[in-house]
This record gives sequence, C-alpha cells and structure tokens, in this order.
Amino acid sequence: MTAIPTHPRGRGVFAALTTLVLTAIVLTMAGVIAGVITAPASHAASTLGAAASEKGRTFGAAVANNHLGEAPYASTLNTEFSGVTPENEMKWDTIEPAQGQFNFGPADAIVNHAQSRNMKIRGHTLVWHSQLAGWVSGISTGTALTTAMRNHINGVMAHYAGDIVYWDVVNEAFNEDGTRRQSVFQQRIGNGYIEDAFRTARAADPSAKLCYNDFNIDGQNAKSNAVFQLVSDFKARGVPIDCVGLQGHFIVGQIPGDIQANIQRFANLGVDVNITELDIRMPTPASAANLQTQANNYATVVNACLAVARCTSITVWGIPDKYSWVPSTFPGQGAPLLFDDNYNKKPAYNSTLTALGGTSSSPPTTPPTTSPPTTPPPGACRVTYAMSTWNTGFTTNITIANTGSTAINGWSLVFTLPSGQAITSGWNATYSPASGQVTARNVSYNGTIAAGQSTGIGFQATHTGNTGRPASFTLNGAACTVA
Ligand code: G3I
Repeated sequence: MTAIPTHPRGRGVFAALTTLVLTAIVLTMAGVIAGVITAPASHAASTLGAAASEKGRTFGAAVANNHLGEAPYASTLNTEFSGVTPENEMKWDTIEPAQGQFNFGPADAIVNHAQSRNMKIRGHTLVWHSQLAGWVSGISTGTALTTAMRNHINGVMAHYAGDIVYWDVVNEAFNEDGTRRQSVFQQRIGNGYIEDAFRTARAADPSAKLCYNDFNIDGQNAKSNAVFQLVSDFKARGVPIDCVGLQGHFIVGQIPGDIQANIQRFANLGVDVNITELDIRMPTPASAANLQTQANNYATVVNACLAVARCTSITVWGIPDKYSWVPSTFPGQGAPLLFDDNYNKKPAYNSTLTALGGTSSSPPTTPPTTSPPTTPPPGACRVTYAMSTWNTGFTTNITIANTGSTAINGWSLVFTLPSGQAITSGWNATYSPASGQVTARNVSYNGTIAAGQSTGIGFQATHTGNTGRPASFTLNGAACTVA
C-alpha cells in the first residue's frame, strides 16, 4: 500500500485536497438543488482582496503573529486582505536561532491563519544580512557559510513545501550605487552566493516561485539596474528565478515617475513582479494635504502594477499605522499605511480600493495625530562607547543614557567614524551610512528612553588600521557627554 504523503507541518496534502474536492462537489450540488448557481458579482467589490481578485491579483499585508490576537487586527486582515507575509517570523534569527534548531511556531501560526482563510502566503526571507542569527555572522569560511545557508534554505523551505506562493530567497543584496552589499554572505562566499541560494531553493520546493526582493528598486536607477542585470544574467544562464520584489517603501509625494516602466522592463525578462512592502510615509502628525497626496500616491502604485500583466501581487507592510516599522526607524515620520491607529479607513484606503476597481462602503476618516519626537536639552545624554578590536575589525557596545528629566521619544544618534572604518552589521538600531558621519536610529522597541534610563545598541565593523573612536556624539541634534 502506498503511504499518503504527510505534510511537513502535520497536515496530509492528500487529505486537504480531498476536503477541497468534496467541498466543491457539495457546494455545486447545493447550488443545483437550489436551482441557482451563483453568478459573478455584478456590483463592484467592496474589499481590497476581493477587488484585487477581480483583477487577477493578490492584495496582501505584512502580518505580525503577536497582533493576531487583537480582534480588530484579525478582523481587518480577514475582511480586507487576500494575502499575508509574515513580517518577522520567517527571518533567520527567529526561525533558526541556533544552528540546525528550527523554531517554526510563530510563522506556523500565521501560515495556519492564512491557509484556513484561503489567503496566499509570501515567504520572507531566506538570505538577508539583517535579523540574522548571531551564529551565522560568526562563521569564518565560505565553505562553512555555504553549508549553513543551504541547510537553512532546505530546512525552512521543506517545512513550508507547497504552502508558499512566492519566496523572497535573497533580500537586499545591493547597495544604492549598484555594487554588492558587503554582507557576511558576500564577504565569505563571494558573488556566487545569490545563485547558490536560488539553485538550492528551487530544489527545496519546486512549487514555490523564487524572488529577489529589495528597496529603492521601484524606479530605474543604479540599484535597480544592477538587479536587472542579475535577473537578465540568471535568465540567460538558466539559473532559477521567477520574480522580482519591489518593496515600495516610499515618501509621500516621491513615487518614481518611471515605476510602471520599471515594472514592465522586469516583466519583459520573463519574471513576475510583486510590490512586496508598500508603505508611504509622511511627517507626523499627518496633515490633511499629505493624507490626500498619499491617497493619490497609493493609486499611482496600484495603477502601475495593474498596467503590467505580470505584476501579480501587492502587499502593504502592515495593517494599522500604529504597528508600522516607520516611526521607530524614521523618528518624526509615520502614518504610512491604509488604516489609522484605530483601524479607520484612510483616504489612501479609498483610493487604493477605487484603483483596484472596487467601491468603498464607508467614508475614510482622518487619523488621530501622534506626537513628534522629544529633543533632549543639550547635555541631557551620556554615551559610553566600548570597543573590542581585532586585526581587521571590531565590535562596539554603545550605551545611550538619558540624563535629562523628560522622556526621549524617538532618537537619532549621530557620530563620525574615523577613516577606514565601515559598519557591516548592527543591532538595536539602524545605521546609515556605513562609514563617515553615521546616524543610528532607534528601532521599534527602543524608541523611548525614560528620564534616567539608558538603552544599549552596537555594531560590527571593519577597519584598515585605525581603531580610533568617534570624537563626539549628538542625540536628536544635542551634544552628549562621553563617558
Ligand atoms: O518583538 C521583539 C521583542 O520581543 C524583543 O524584546 C526585541 C529585542 O530584540 O525585539 C523585538 O523584535 C523586533 C521586531 O521588529 C518587532 O518589533 C526586532 O528586534 C526588530 O529588528 C524588528 O524590526 C523589523 C525590521 O524589519 C528589522 O530589520 C520590522 O518589524 C520589520 O517591519 C522590518 O521589515 C523590513 C523587511 O523585512 C525588509 N525590508 C525593509 C523592512 C522595513 O525595515
């Protein structure tokens, strides 16, 4: 007797298919008995997912497992969206925190939620320099890192085999000027790591479409040209690639004028295009004018995608504004999504639904405002900068103390690295650029430093002999004392 293939997450594929077929038969018979087979809706769809579906597209949202228990979050997701992307739960530091030990629980919860509601799932992401487990950065040889990377891809993709429509196999591998980002993968393995990852991914789950995903490749520029070359080269040599993800993290009023042409040129290479992480940020509190511009901008992006047959999916990077990654990374900016902090539909919701061909059933409301970051008075911060150096590199542990009497809400620490030093990875803050005058910005969970409290951040860097320290630090523009 042939064994029924068992799904790696415990569900029999055969059983699931049988259920689907039986359900279809029962539904069809019910329609025949009642003498009515449901006709296609003659009215316009009233949700994003339904409207997108009528255009043959998926409209998804990035979803965080820890919010799924919040009733309005889940109901908005279930009502409006036809796709999900786990926002953080499939990233390396969560899903393989120790070598060979996989932690699928958080991602499984999202996948199960999505599957039980027929939502399409984008997998995000297999190979990325950020949110990387510490043990990966510690691997010192290309051979060992290649093995770890292949094992990671195989382990994760096997677990979700058959469940994922699109996988972001490699994420953010290029710099703005089109050169390769000096990630640990690039440094240890070299240029071939992307091809290796895609070949491994194809073998691991042949049913998944494999994507390269990046930000600031929405229009035609040096970075998107480099991705275009990569995809052209892969196609010419038969390296498996099926999709390019344009993340779509925009600033209000700054949608690239050539976004449709850019989508089209990738489609012409024979790959699907997904808008994978759409959001459009603005200064907060949000003004009515910016909310209207944002609405126009969302429509522009949706229209650009709809104009290209191979642009098959649009995903917004979150549901309500309050859970967006933006305010913690760009203090003073936010309100980038389609629903406000209270799940009210914004003007951008309405314009998006209309662009998709749907009609809104309720008017959008203006979101409540959020308070701007607090700037500490001069001298209200103290920075401790501890270094641990070796011949070509160093790590830092930086403590930022709020020595003032009011809380700091949202912070940017600015300092200048001595020449020859360049940051390769960091934690508890975003660092930009990698060398020269660097701005470290808080992340979502450490934006507030209460009076008298401190927060710790750090980074790893390379050097060319100069292991000096930054001469000074400013926090939100105010000079700090250096301990
Ligand atoms: O939730 C944990 C908390 O329990 C823990 O105590 C804390 C300390 O480590 O971490 C918290 O997790 C944080 C998570 O956001 C949830 O807030 C992570 O550290 C933090 O790094 C993470 O930020 C995410 C960011 O990627 C990391 O680079 C954002 O949520 C996520 O929206 C963002 O998404 C990225 C895409 O993956 C790739 N493209 C850019 C996009 C925006 O940065």
